[in-house]
Amino acid sequence: MCGIVAYAGHKPCHRILIEGIKRLEYRGYDSAGLAVIQDGKLALQRAAGRIASLEEILDETTAHGTVGIAHTRWATHGAPTTSNAHPHLDDSGRIALVHNGIIENYAALKTWLQSQGKHFSSQTDSEVLVNLISFLYRGNLVDAVQKALKEVEGTYGIAVISSDHPETIVAARKGSPLLVGVGENEHIVASDAAAIVEHTTRAVYLEDGEMVVITPDAFRTITLDNITVDKELENIEFSLQQIELDGYDHFMLKEIFEQPTSLENTLRGRIDLQAGRAILGGLENVKDQLAQAKRIIIIACGTAWHSGLVGEFLLEHLARIPTEVEYASEFRYRNPIIEPGTVVIAISQSGETADTLAALREAKEHGALALGIVNVVGSTIAREADAGVYLHCGPEIGVASTKAFTSQLAVLTLLAIYLGRRRSLDHDQAQRLLQSLTEMPARIKNVLCLSDQIQKVAQSCLDREHWLFLGRGYNYPLALEGALKLKEISYAHAEGLPAAEMKHGPIALINKGMPTVFIATSGSQYEKVISNIEEVRARGGMVLAVATENDTRIQTHAEAVFTIPDVPEPLSPLLVVIPLQLLAYHCAVGRGCAVDKPRNLAKSVTVE
Ligand code: F6R
Repeated sequence: MCGIVAYAGHKPCHRILIEGIKRLEYRGYDSAGLAVIQDGKLALQRAAGRIASLEEILDETTAHGTVGIAHTRWATHGAPTTSNAHPHLDDSGRIALVHNGIIENYAALKTWLQSQGKHFSSQTDSEVLVNLISFLYRGNLVDAVQKALKEVEGTYGIAVISSDHPETIVAARKGSPLLVGVGENEHIVASDAAAIVEHTTRAVYLEDGEMVVITPDAFRTITLDNITVDKELENIEFSLQQIELDGYDHFMLKEIFEQPTSLENTLRGRIDLQAGRAILGGLENVKDQLAQAKRIIIIACGTAWHSGLVGEFLLEHLARIPTEVEYASEFRYRNPIIEPGTVVIAISQSGETADTLAALREAKEHGALALGIVNVVGSTIAREADAGVYLHCGPEIGVASTKAFTSQLAVLTLLAIYLGRRRSLDHDQAQRLLQSLTEMPARIKNVLCLSDQIQKVAQSCLDREHWLFLGRGYNYPLALEGALKLKEISYAHAEGLPAAEMKHGPIALINKGMPTVFIATSGSQYEKVISNIEEVRARGGMVLAVATENDTRIQTHAEAVFTIPDVPEPLSPLLVVIPLQLLAYHCAVGRGCAVDKPRNLAKSVTVE
């Protein structure tokens, strides 16, 4: 997972490139570099570490060029060193390339290129590609890139420049997103819109198999066979301000606090209260097929998988459609049984997660109706799904997913009502739920007031290395999500479990002071959760509880209680997750962790 920015214009571009890759740093941040065409030559600057390290070494070498490419890397082949950082030059030093993705047949290509006299100075698959382009280059850069890409197996988003063509950048995509910002006498190619919006809000999204050739004054989209593709200019939906910190210490905290607004955006225009119906325009084309759905399979990874688990409860409860949830990475490799009437739903914030995308393709090949629940507009999953629903929760920059999760829950609730109303769910039931759903942004706002209380509790647990999160029913996936949030950003070990499973083994872990977070909201399984709490207390565990307002009993069973408003059970996950996100956040800050960029993690996992 890496970030690419390429600029062709009339302004000195090295600061533009640096600012651009900084906005993409969430995509990867183990090394960075840029190459600019200056005085007819390629000037290259690279550094291991974050972009700040690159800035430290930047000098006049690249200060005046107006065409250049830049990259922030997340290593796949070769350690995060300066020599493995992008851009990579061919062995003649006349062509430079930045690459996101993986060239799967790079080893065979490298051996062959070596036998043809090519020299390599890195361990990367990307350097193989630039040398292949160079080997095939006969004066026409576009032609050489096209020929090279036809030899390549794997995925790529690339941008290529050559000192022989000082005004031109050639870019191409397969399996790795790229878009072209179209400005006044300037064009910018980037892995996502965050690097572009400062300069222009007009953009063209490339599809797999497409290329673009940009100069300061023109762009041309073509296929690998050099056939011109007419693309529509689209408006980038979000402003730069939306992706800045807005006064918060971290993107994660900003995004947690944005949830009342992001949820409102997700719900806008999708509720017809009077009719007791959900309006999902993105499903209009497939509504007849959906009405025939016999079985639903949800595929996703990580936090999106957890929202899928809540979706399973919602769809079975409200729409009475048998639903399963699968890890996308498992689904894709096990030749799944897809019968007529099977609907597969891929859930993904980024819309680019490799496993989820591959699972979606697998489902389509088997004849399933494939839907996407995706945040990033124009992302690959969004484009490849037969139909779908966008989250519209705005860009999520913090690596830990927060506001996308609540928007996924909201869309799944709407979907369950949408399908349920065509089956067993009656008008009044649906209307009540929809009414409560419209009240959720305000309720989340109230729950966010717990932040200070949660920070104090977190302070008292900073030295705890092992945590349990337990819940039942709708709250079981929330226990998983609470544990995932904590471990990924604070590096404390945490496990989430269905509360009743504890006694089948994990109870052996409980010792004095071990923090155990129970989700004990009022509902069908409340009494049983109270019994589970007592089992933990009897062994000296420290009980923290998420419970419902006005529950006076719970206070005597827990060291700390985080209360949320009483709402219908299917909607409670939207509130329960807020204290869990805040707990993880405050623990991570207290432990001195890099909250927005946790170690070993990148925002979007576009490799297997
Ligand atoms: C956890 C987290 C990840 C993602 C997962 C799927 O906080 O962010 O677990 O949820 O990598 O990503 P998307 O939703 O982009 O497919």
